[in-house]
Amino acid sequence: MKPATVAVTAGRPPHEVDQPLSEPITMASTYVAGGEREYGRYANPTWAAFEEALGALEGGRALAFSSGMAAVTTVLDLVGHDGLVVAPAHSYTGTLLQLGDLESRGRVRTRLVDITDTEAVVAACEDAALVWFESPTNPALEVADIPRIAAAAHEAGAYVVVDNTFATPLLQQPLDLGADIVVHSVTKFLAGHSDVLMGAVVTNDDQLHGVLKGRRDLLGSTPGTLEAWLALRGLRTLHLRVERSQANAQELVRRLSTHPAIGEVRYPGFGGIVSVVLAQGAMAADLLVHKTSIWVHATSLGGVESTFERRRRWKAEPATIPDGLVRLSVGVEDVDDLWDDLRDALSSLVG
Ligand SMILES: Cc1ncc(COP(=O)(O)O)c(C=O)c1O
Repeated sequence: MKPATVAVTAGRPPHEVDQPLSEPITMASTYVAGGEREYGRYANPTWAAFEEALGALEGGRALAFSSGMAAVTTVLDLVGHDGLVVAPAHSYTGTLLQLGDLESRGRVRTRLVDITDTEAVVAACEDAALVWFESPTNPALEVADIPRIAAAAHEAGAYVVVDNTFATPLLQQPLDLGADIVVHSVTKFLAGHSDVLMGAVVTNDDQLHGVLKGRRDLLGSTPGTLEAWLALRGLRTLHLRVERSQANAQELVRRLSTHPAIGEVRYPGFGGIVSVVLAQGAMAADLLVHKTSIWVHATSLGGVESTFERRRRWKAEPATIPDGLVRLSVGVEDVDDLWDDLRDALSSLVG
């Protein structure tokens, strides 16, 4: 089946008389003993339906987590004491903060790399225990050569992990490119409506799946049932939202690239996230985000509504991200309305 059909059909109850078409929200902290579920921290039918659908889209077995960071943290915990983690210098700030915290406590060592410099990353993998990819990176939008680096990482015996939040399984399937584990902030495109915090991991290695599920059970980093239900509902239209948001993004990239207020447009060629660097720097960027009526000044991304923010307003954002960089999360509105709103705000900056 094609991804659009999988997004709509996977994780449904059986087509039997009187079955609901959608998995209901099962509110349960415990189950009648003797079956496979037993307790609400170990299993829930609503999570299971979400996991089935996401697993089918990524080509593996999924596990739902309470947030993207819960998934990130659980996966990083696979690294043994003092093991080396290789990761992009421009990873999501939460991931960088988590790595920094683990390193400062002597738990792991980290080596931050320019993920676009394939040969340097391959060399950096030599003694790695885990190689972390974010591709495209947030918010620099750099793209990694996943198959080439994954092969080098495996030669070193390292786990290969890809944070696939930006691309979604519709535009990139990391397990097919050599990854052992895919990580998602479900909060973003997968759920897609800026109303859910959730995360997920996906793997096609049964042993790894068992280890990660065991960790989730003990950490208790499980999602709320309503969240899993909302995320699954969001997933049903993932293909439509990604298609529209990508088409809008591509058109906006074309129009933005000739606007005099814009110094640089960064776009990897796919997906719904665009980063622009304001020609007049950080102050212009801060003005811009308060001058629009459709675009909302907000962090996070991947919702149906268009949002933007200057990323360096966050202290943890690496200093190598330009001060005047604004990350645009392009929604599914009409592209002309999005452009008019943005163009008017940009034009007011250059007079
Ligand atoms: C690429 C990426 N990975 C992970 C996360 C963390 O996800 P969450 O906010 O759901 O914990 C984010 C959040 O912005 C992200 O952008």
